[in-house]
Amino acid sequence: MMALPGYIRENVALAPFTSFGIGGPARWLAEPATRDDVRDAFALAREWGVRIYILGGGSNLLVADDGVDGMVVRLAASGLFGRVEAREDGLSWSIGSAAPLAAFVRETVGAGVRGLESLAGIPGTVGGAVTMNSGAAGGGIGRFVTGADIVRFDGTAEFLGRDGLAFDYRTSAISEMLALRFDFAFTDRDDPFVLRDSVRRHRERKRASQPLTIPSAGCVFKNPPGDSAGSLLDEAGCKGMRENDAVVSRVHANFVVNQANATAMDVFRLVVRMRELVWRRTGIVLEPEIRLWGFTDDLREFHA
Ligand code: EPU
Repeated sequence: MMALPGYIRENVALAPFTSFGIGGPARWLAEPATRDDVRDAFALAREWGVRIYILGGGSNLLVADDGVDGMVVRLAASGLFGRVEAREDGLSWSIGSAAPLAAFVRETVGAGVRGLESLAGIPGTVGGAVTMNSGAAGGGIGRFVTGADIVRFDGTAEFLGRDGLAFDYRTSAISEMLALRFDFAFTDRDDPFVLRDSVRRHRERKRASQPLTIPSAGCVFKNPPGDSAGSLLDEAGCKGMRENDAVVSRVHANFVVNQANATAMDVFRLVVRMRELVWRRTGIVLEPEIRLWGFTDDLREFHA
């Protein structure tokens, strides 16, 4: 058995790593600083027979109150995995997965590169955003990704080209693996002042339509094809509904906010009720966008 490396700790509270501010401890938290550390952490998880969970910025995540009985892996943004580098042509970039998305948006906009303006104001890491193919009005971030440097949970490593990444609405092929770094390619340039103005408009739109000052995990459900989860939830009367301190926002019905001391179970129960109301009214089964860790019940089972 390998000795426990210094970058792995036992029983670490996850709530501070999430935007909800909710959730119990990780049995193990690994914060690898190098590719070898990543491989060693995965090897240990396999040896111990525990599940691996990849933590990005924790902004699209609900961790159960009892935490997760596995190894949570989180790349440190301070080193190798947090770098944002433009290549010589100025349009190709190499980005560490742990870099904050906001930093990447700022750098490209400052460099006069068009593409990421509509992602301004989205929290989390580049790795999380690419994995979820995050986006706003203009489409997902995945359309600019040309490849990813990945290590699979089984220890194999590869450079996946864009065809291997299978981007679609709020999803990608990044699963059972950790992406360490991405290549991005943009095609258009513009005046940074023009781009900053566009960033400002996107931020304002977001501020006007979303509850950004109270802890949440953003939109709870994906939009069903051709429809809006937010308006379906709103029409079903969800706004203001609550389970203790977990409340459906009155600003946007697809946001659950933690008003003070909501537990993961409060949020979970509320999310199940929201889904039930829309289903009863329309027959549409909303699919969660937020990731749920440590829950034994799958949301799907509540609709038998
Ligand atoms: N609407 C309501 N009531 C509500 C909320 C929305 O009637 O309570 C209506 C709006 O008036 C609008 C329509 O629903 O006509 C769509 O709403 P919005 O423009 O806010 O966009 P959305 O589809 O709800 C999507 C993303 C957001 C992203 C925004 C901005 C999803 C699930 N959500 O929201 O992403 O910020 O567009 O472009 O795709 C997230 O993924 O966490 C997220 C916040």
